[in-house]
Amino acid sequence: MFSDVDGEHMEAALALAELARLIAPPNPWVGCVLVRDGQVVGEGHTLEPGSAHAEVNALAAAGAAARGATAYTTLEPCSHHGRTPPCVDALVGAGVSRVVTAIFDPDPRVSGNGVARLRDAGVAVEHGLMAQEVRRQLRPYLHQRSTGRAFALLKAAASLDGRTAAADGTSRWITGPDARRDAHRLRAESGAVLVGAGTALADRPSLTVRHGQARPPRPPLRVLLDSSGRVPASGALFDRSLAPTLVFTSARSSATARHAWEAAGAEVFVAPERDAGVDLAVVLRALAERGVLQVLVEGGAFVHGSFLRSGYADGLALYVGNAVLGASGAPLFAGFEVAGMDRAPRWRVSGAERMHDDGRVDSEPAAAAPPRE
Ligand SMILES: NC(=O)c1ccc[n+]([C@@H]2O[C@H](COP(=O)([O-])OP(=O)(O)OC[C@H]3O[C@@H](n4cnc5c(N)ncnc54)[C@H](OP(=O)(O)O)[C@@H]3O)[C@@H](O)[C@H]2O)c1
Repeated sequence: MFSDVDGEHMEAALALAELARLIAPPNPWVGCVLVRDGQVVGEGHTLEPGSAHAEVNALAAAGAAARGATAYTTLEPCSHHGRTPPCVDALVGAGVSRVVTAIFDPDPRVSGNGVARLRDAGVAVEHGLMAQEVRRQLRPYLHQRSTGRAFALLKAAASLDGRTAAADGTSRWITGPDARRDAHRLRAESGAVLVGAGTALADRPSLTVRHGQARPPRPPLRVLLDSSGRVPASGALFDRSLAPTLVFTSARSSATARHAWEAAGAEVFVAPERDAGVDLAVVLRALAERGVLQVLVEGGAFVHGSFLRSGYADGLALYVGNAVLGASGAPLFAGFEVAGMDRAPRWRVSGAERMHDDGRVDSEPAAAAPPRE
């Protein structure tokens, strides 16, 4: 049904969408290419929230040349009045005669309505071109809209023998500058960056985007899991001039600890407890409600183990460094036991990249096991 030329234009739309990954959230990052008589007459991608969507930007670039054109758009055009008018109306109004889309928008306000309304208006719609690639590109958005939880991307740096800290608790630096710059790109792409109390105490991290080229319009929200209130409200993590901070705690923490966090400008969320700490389902839903599509879970081992055990680990970016830390080093996942090979959760490697002396291995759960509710 689709020609090679269709594929080339959709590939260009995907590349345009990628340019909007940092600026679009909590909206999806979408690309659109308008083609008439074999010529590209307009291109656009999503801008910051509240600004025109990809289709409207491409239409503006094309002007009158949009009449009779084909629009290649990575996501189904929106059909509802949000902060901007529906893209469907703009496409119909401009006289676009054919729309090629990759995937439906799971947002319940759109979800097939965009395509239906285009067809009702007499526009030819062909659906499903490069759907797999677009699904991969928009994974955090699709996950957040369809589950109501932020997409949890686990990130860790491990030694060649799979250790995340030396016997004395130090972990700086397991990987070199190239890998660390890449990890800051992941922060820039995430609406929130999360650590556990153990890491906050051991490393005193700032969790800001400092290295590399990628800079989001707003710094990611810093998230701390501290059920018992043992992390003091001081240091870079509680410097509100750097970025906002949200602490998830439980009824176990003292009023004094909570007041100190609030006095430092942090938001405090008292969540129910589950297993080793605050209930992760509550955490991920609360983040989604704050517009976070992806949370980068930076550890440490107990936090990573909790995410894996509870079924809320949606992806893993593992940086593998060139140090060997030996048997007394910290594991990648703590509090997590596997009795035998037949019980091991299986993940599949979805990408790998060499970074100077280090590497990054990307993985995702092999079968989408439903999280334990
Ligand atoms: N290589 C790396 O990529 C990397 C990254 C980060 C850290 N590290 C290293 O890891 C070490 C710290 O890791 P860690 O395992 O000791 O501590 P951690 O995972 O950072 O923090 C664990 C603590 O977080 C709190 N917590 C609250 N809710 C939780 C939940 N749902 N699941 C799990 N924990 C929850 C618990 O303390 P409360 O009961 O007090 O709430 C728990 O003991 C340090 O040595 C650090 O340098 C390495």
